[in-house]
Amino acid sequence: MKTQTIQATVNPRLLTKASRLFTGTLGGRIIEVLQNARRAGATEVTITNQDCLVSVRDNGKGIEDFSQLLDLGSSGWEDDIEVSEDPAGVGLFCLAPREVAIRSLGKLVRIQDDGWTGAPVEIVSDSEPVNGTVVQFRDDEWNLERVSPHAVFTGLKVTVDGNLCPEVPFVSNAAAHHSELGCRIEVGPYDSLSDWHHRIRSTPFDSNNVFVNFHGQVITFDYHPVGEHNLRYLVHLTGEPTGIRLMLPARTRLVENEAFETLKAALELEAYRFIERRGEHALSYKEYLRAKELGITLPEAKPTYEIGLLTSDGMPDPVQVEAPKDFPLAQCYRFDPDQKKWDDWDATNAHLLAALGKFETPFVPVDIRSSYNGYSWANMPTVDDVKVIKKKIIHEDWLWSGTLVCVESLTITARTSDGRVFRSVVCMAVLPPKAKPQWADASVYVTKEAQKRLCSSEIWYHLGGWNEDGDSYDTQESSFSADLDRFWADVVGPDEYLRQLMFEAAGNILEEWKHVAVASDGTVTIQLKDGKKKTLKPSAAETPTAAA
Ligand SMILES: Nc1ncnc2c1ncn2[C@@H]1O[C@H](COP(=O)(O)OP(=O)(O)OP(=O)(O)O)[C@@H](O)[C@H]1O
Ligand SMILES: [Mg+2]
Repeated sequence: MKTQTIQATVNPRLLTKASRLFTGTLGGRIIEVLQNARRAGATEVTITNQDCLVSVRDNGKGIEDFSQLLDLGSSGWEDDIEVSEDPAGVGLFCLAPREVAIRSLGKLVRIQDDGWTGAPVEIVSDSEPVNGTVVQFRDDEWNLERVSPHAVFTGLKVTVDGNLCPEVPFVSNAAAHHSELGCRIEVGPYDSLSDWHHRIRSTPFDSNNVFVNFHGQVITFDYHPVGEHNLRYLVHLTGEPTGIRLMLPARTRLVENEAFETLKAALELEAYRFIERRGEHALSYKEYLRAKELGITLPEAKPTYEIGLLTSDGMPDPVQVEAPKDFPLAQCYRFDPDQKKWDDWDATNAHLLAALGKFETPFVPVDIRSSYNGYSWANMPTVDDVKVIKKKIIHEDWLWSGTLVCVESLTITARTSDGRVFRSVVCMAVLPPKAKPQWADASVYVTKEAQKRLCSSEIWYHLGGWNEDGDSYDTQESSFSADLDRFWADVVGPDEYLRQLMFEAAGNILEEWKHVAVASDGTVTIQLKDGKKKTLKPSAAETPTAAA
């Protein structure tokens, strides 16, 4: 029996769809036409617009073999371009189905209609021969604003209707040469980019941080080989042979081939080299070791820590732990949540002890992320045990989303790994909810001192704080404050509460007062310290009238 075979061919039908290989945008056409000029070895491109007729003239080597123009999939470039740029032989079809005139080295073709899909196109001699190549077609205006973004990084001198497009080096002289990839790589912070680089990003929220310049066409992608997320990576193709390829036909992405993996490895290396040159860093210990593996010895990360153990990613803020100015990290105590099985509230109470307690030598707990474990500075004494002792309940009530309990006294004790004991009376501590509804936040213990010492939001923090789903922050805060005022009123009893209110009100009148009397007719008499007397009569509006 005769063996049957199949064979790959290109069906001419593809020609009818060739123009659709492109997005059909003006920018796309500018990229393709400028690219051809550059590949032809041009240094200058002159664009003119006249009555919707765009004319692009380059000073390249010109076209010897016009048949290459319409051969879909075949290119007539020199070998070096073949190796470094991987031309696909489709670019010119972005102009289909327009009427396009191309003249070069004394010859001229006019491609139109079925000329794009297979009909023979006549080559005639050019009455006005040009060196280089001129491509002419109808299009929207190729003005300076539209051309510049596609010209700025090409290395070409491009003029539009007599105006020169800006030319900006894509990387600086400091960029590292990677001949294995045919590119130069530069790593740095975003603020070192030119405005033209910034314009590459489609929106300010575009997270792509790697910019690859293919001779003027810039492809971006998102890749963070090290934890510093504000770094951007510039990759400038030099024209040497490279395995880095653009995905066809759109050429807006890189092909994820072996060279792409090599590129990613090179980006990682250059990131660590950049950090090495800069000196200071806050990388994790794992990354520090990775750099070492790559032959780069970094200094240790700069000590990175938070003073205190409570943060406020929401609102309100907790009581702050104050460390004395320039207090050395080595004399602080690390609270490492990974180190042992802590109770839920141990960190909170260690924080409150530090914030509210009184000590001869400061007790400053710090929070250091466990990814820093391994650095010498992170190896410091730790808080190992936290205990709360509370005495005699005076009053308790449900408040906001937990229980608030006023007790006679509170003491917190923290033991540290260097054998020290920090113990102090405090005005607030937090313990697990007494009853256990799932959503109860905590039992917050306070002493009477807390009424003066703490602001209401510092207590609110532990009772759930601001709720996103509810009213505005201010409304919720004043509602909590009102609840808290009632709580304190209950703690001190009605007489004492009245006394406090009146004393506070009197204090608000004048500083130098000695005696204030309030009469039931509304008259207030103030006896000042200097012996003077002031009598305040109710104004007419507030005096009850006979009729009322
Ligand atoms: N400005 C020019 N100067 C000289 N030759 C050109 C010029 N423009 C096009 N050519 C010739 O026409 C051929 C086809 O161009 P076309 O843009 O379609 O494909 P390509 O550049 O080879 O590949 P790609 O699909 O990557 O653009 C080129 O290979 C080249 O031989
Ligand atoms: Mg081309």
